[in-house]
Amino acid sequence: MKKTIVLLAGDGIGPEVTAAAATVLKECAREFHHQFDFVEQPVGGTAIDLTGTPLPHATLDACRKADAVFLGAVGGPKWDALPVGKRPESGLLDLRRGMGLYVNVRPAKLIEPLRGMSPLKPERLGDLDLEIVRELAGGIYFGERGRSTENGKDRSWDTESYSTAEIERIAAFAYTRAEGRSRRLCSVDKANVLASSELWRRTVTAMGSVYPHVRLEHMYVDNAAMQLTLRPSQFDVLLTTNMFGDILSDAAAALVGSIGLVPSASFGSGAPLFEPIHGSAPTLAGKDSANPVGSILSAVMMLRDAFGLGLEADWVEQSVVRVLGAGYRTPDLASPGSKPIGTTGFMEILHEEMQRTLEHAERYGWGV
Ligand code: NAD
Ligand code: IPM
Ligand code: MN
Repeated sequence: MKKTIVLLAGDGIGPEVTAAAATVLKECAREFHHQFDFVEQPVGGTAIDLTGTPLPHATLDACRKADAVFLGAVGGPKWDALPVGKRPESGLLDLRRGMGLYVNVRPAKLIEPLRGMSPLKPERLGDLDLEIVRELAGGIYFGERGRSTENGKDRSWDTESYSTAEIERIAAFAYTRAEGRSRRLCSVDKANVLASSELWRRTVTAMGSVYPHVRLEHMYVDNAAMQLTLRPSQFDVLLTTNMFGDILSDAAAALVGSIGLVPSASFGSGAPLFEPIHGSAPTLAGKDSANPVGSILSAVMMLRDAFGLGLEADWVEQSVVRVLGAGYRTPDLASPGSKPIGTTGFMEILHEEMQRTLEHAERYGWGV
C-alpha cells in the first residue's frame, strides 16, 4: 500500500507526540511492506512565526492532496495575546473547515491496566467504552461573532447556529456508528433553552425511522456531564455539537486516566485527519514528559479507519496495552509501584514490544 501522510506537528508537545506517531507508522510500513511518504508542514504558532499565518496556503494544499493528515497540537502562551481569528487555534479551525471535516470521533475506552488511574471508583467506572461523535464544522465555533461598544463598555458575542442539513449529516454518521456498536445513541443538547438545540433534537428524532434498530435517547448537556461522572458505562455513542463535544471529551478523557491517552479521527468530504484530543501542554514541552499514547492511538485509527489496515492497527494497539500492562508510565500516569518513563523511553519499550509481538506472530500466527 502506498500512501501520502501529511504531518502537522504544531506547537508545545505537538512535535514530540507527532514524532511518536510517525515512528509507529514507519515501523508498520517497514514490517508490512507499505510505502508511507511523509510530508511535514507548519501549522499553528510555529506557522505564525515562520509565515505570519497559522494555516499557510501550502499547508492546506498539502493536506488536501494527502491520503491522510496527522496533527499534533497547536497553541501556547507565546501567541495567547493575539486576537481570536489570528491565533494558532484558528489555524486548526480553518484546517478542519478547509478540509471539509465535519465529523470528529473521540473514543474514550478504558485501557484495563490503567483502571486504577481513573478518578472513578471501579464500581462506578464499569467497562467504560464510549465514543463521542462531535460535529466539527459548525455551531458556535463558526457562527457569526462580533464586538461593539456601549456607553464606553465592550460587548462581544458568538452565535450558536445549526442548519437541518448540518445536523443530518453528523447524525447520520452517529446513527451508523451506533449500528456498528451496541445500537444505543445518546444525543446531547440544551433543547430546554437553545433554539439551535431544539432543531437539533427534532432533526435527530426524525431520522430515527431510518435507523429502526438504534435506540435513541436525548440528554441535556448538564445532565450528560453529570452522568458521565456518575455512571459512564451507560453510554455507547454520544452525539454532540461542536462545543459540547469539546467539553465532554476532556471530561471523558479524565475518566480513562489521562487526556494524554485519547485519540481522535475526523472525516468529511476529503482526506481524513487524525489528532490526539489534548492540546500543546506548554509546561511539558521539551521535557520528554508527554504521554504519546493518544497520538499513537490516533495513528492506529489512521491505519484502521483510513487505510483499512486492521492487522497493523491491532499490532500497534495491543503492543501499547502490553507496555502499559508491564507498568511503564509517563508522568501523567505515575502511581506507586509503576515504572516511570519519559516519552522517548516509552517509544523504545514500545518498539521492543512490537518486535516481540511480530516474532511471536511469525512463529505461531496472529491472534495466538
Ligand atoms: P492541554 O490539553 O494542552 O493540557 C491540559 C492538561 O493536560 C495539562 O495539565 C497538560 O499538562 C496535560 N496534558 C495534555 N496533554 C498531555 C499529554 N500528552 N501527556 C501528559 N499530559 C498532558 O490543554 P490546555 O492547557 O487547556 O491548553 C494548552 C494549549 O493547547 C492552549 O494554547 C490551547 O488552546 C491548546 N489546545 C490545542 C488543542 C489542539 O491542538 N488540538 C487542543 C486543546 C488545547
Ligand atoms: C480540541 C481543541 C480545539 C477545539 C481548539 C484548540 C481549537 O480544544 O481539539 O479539542 O476546541 O476543537
Ligand atoms: Mn478540546
